[in-house]
This record gives sequence, C-alpha cells and structure tokens, in this order.
Amino acid sequence: MKSIIITGASKGLGNALALNYLDKGYSVYAISRTKAENLSEVTQIKCDLSDLEALKTAFFSLLNTLKATSPTSLTLINNAGSLGTVSHLENIDSDNIIQTVNLNYTAPLLLNSLFIKQTEDWKINRSIRTISSGAATSSIDGWSVYCSTKAAIDQMTRVMGVEQANKSNPVHTLSIYPGVVDTQMQGEIRKSKSEDFSNIEKFKDMKVNNELASTESVAQLVYKIDMDSSLDNGSVVSVRDY
Ligand SMILES: NC(=O)c1ccc[n+]([C@@H]2O[C@H](COP(=O)([O-])OP(=O)(O)OC[C@H]3O[C@@H](n4cnc5c(N)ncnc54)[C@H](OP(=O)(O)O)[C@@H]3O)[C@@H](O)[C@H]2O)c1
Repeated sequence: MKSIIITGASKGLGNALALNYLDKGYSVYAISRTKAENLSEVTQIKCDLSDLEALKTAFFSLLNTLKATSPTSLTLINNAGSLGTVSHLENIDSDNIIQTVNLNYTAPLLLNSLFIKQTEDWKINRSIRTISSGAATSSIDGWSVYCSTKAAIDQMTRVMGVEQANKSNPVHTLSIYPGVVDTQMQGEIRKSKSEDFSNIEKFKDMKVNNELASTESVAQLVYKIDMDSSLDNGSVVSVRDY
C-alpha cells in the first residue's frame, strides 16, 4: 500500500491533506501534539515537533513500524508550522523564537535527514513535500521568524534536489506554497495588533470578502502537485499555478 506521513494533521491544511490522501487509498500516518477525532483511520502519533529529541525518537520508531508494513511508496509531508509571536523581532521572547525555528525549520531538516537515511535501501518511490509560504519571498513586518524559516526550507528543498539528483533511487522533493487558507493560523493573524503587523486590515478584509481558500480545495491542489511528474527535483511551486 502507498503510505504517507503528514505532520500537523490534527487541524487546518494538514487535516484536509490527511483526509484527501485517505480518500486516494493511502495508508496515512500523522504527527501532531494533539489527535483529531475525524482521523480514526489514521495512525496518529502525539509529538511536539519543536522538541527535537522527542521528534528523533518518534520518527525513528515510526519509520521502523512502516518498514515492517512493506509500503509500495512513501511520502513525507512537512506541513506543521507556526507564525510564532507576531511582532517586531526585538519584542519576541527568545524561547518563542527558538520554538518557532525548531518547528518550522529544524524539524523538517531532521525529519528529511532521517527519512532519506533510514529508507535508503527501500526499493520504492520516496518523496518529500514541504509546505512553505509566499512569505518566504516577501518582507512582512511582524513575521521575521516566519518569513525567514520559510525561506530557509525552500533552500533546504532546492539543495536536497541537487543532492538527490545523481542517486540511484533519489528522493523527490518539493516546496509548496498553499496560498491563503482558511485555518486557525489565519485567525491568529487577524488577532494581531496593527503596531506589530501593519498589514492586518488586508487580512481581515480577505476573511470578510470570502477570499480565503478552503483547506479541502488546497489539499486537492497539493495532491495534484504531488502527482505532477514533470516537476524537477527540488522545485518550489505554488498552488496558484495549478
Ligand atoms: N493558513 C495559511 O493561510 C497558510 C499560508 C501559507 C502557508 N501556510 C502553511 O501551511 C501549513 C499548515 O498551516 P495551517 O494554516 O493549517 O495551520 P494551523 O491550522 O495552525 O495548523 C497547524 C498544524 O500544525 C500542528 N503543530 C503546530 N505546532 C506543532 C508542534 N509544536 N508540534 C507538532 N505539531 C504542531 C498543529 O497541531 P497541534 O496543535 O495538534 O500540535 C496543527 O495540526 C504551515 O506550515 C503554514 O506555515 C499556511
């Protein structure tokens, strides 16, 4: 059976991705701090991904479990992410900076490294899709940690693409921009103060004007991108192009 691991599937986009891949016949494994009631068919693992030691232990064990099931293909979607505190950098608590960098950037680096190494001799198609953001290429006040971690994961993807290119069974890797999606993260953005984030009215207007994409529609586009065999290894792509 095709298998997929999705981080941050308890809510938001990750939850819709889990349901969509279940629908496509995948065996789905999810990692979040909390479990979702609507994912009874998913193997849900509780883990705080900003706790890097816990992440290593949980992921090592998950890959061992998966190996015993002899999957026909394996995909990892790095979806879990957080804005962290929205404010100018000097006003953000150091612990919050560390936690957000761990979750948005160090966790995908470690997961990808362990994934590539531990599945090296599995004779199946392996892919990694990392949910990034248009914020990777925009300078948005109040979002220094978010923008910079998303830019970093795009570079992670590009470099992995170069590294994997000449391997005998390369891991195919993509970074995907999901657009503006109607999730709890958007609710958090709208709760910001204008002195911390000057663009707040634009985001409030988008919600009022019904301009946010649904998680279900974006999950389908992410699947379409995942299936697009024309994409070079290491590409950074947006759902807006599909
Ligand atoms: N929404 C947008 O408009 C938008 C735009 C561009 C990019 N994105 C990206 O899309 C991805 C999903 O965002 P979303 O909007 O769906 O966010 P969301 O609704 O806030 O959901 C975030 C998910 O990540 C998990 N998560 C958060 N902190 C975690 C931690 N420390 N350890 C493990 N899991 C953790 C949450 O689960 P638990 O709370 O159960 O741990 C939840 O399942 C993120 O990478 C985000 O940056 C979103």
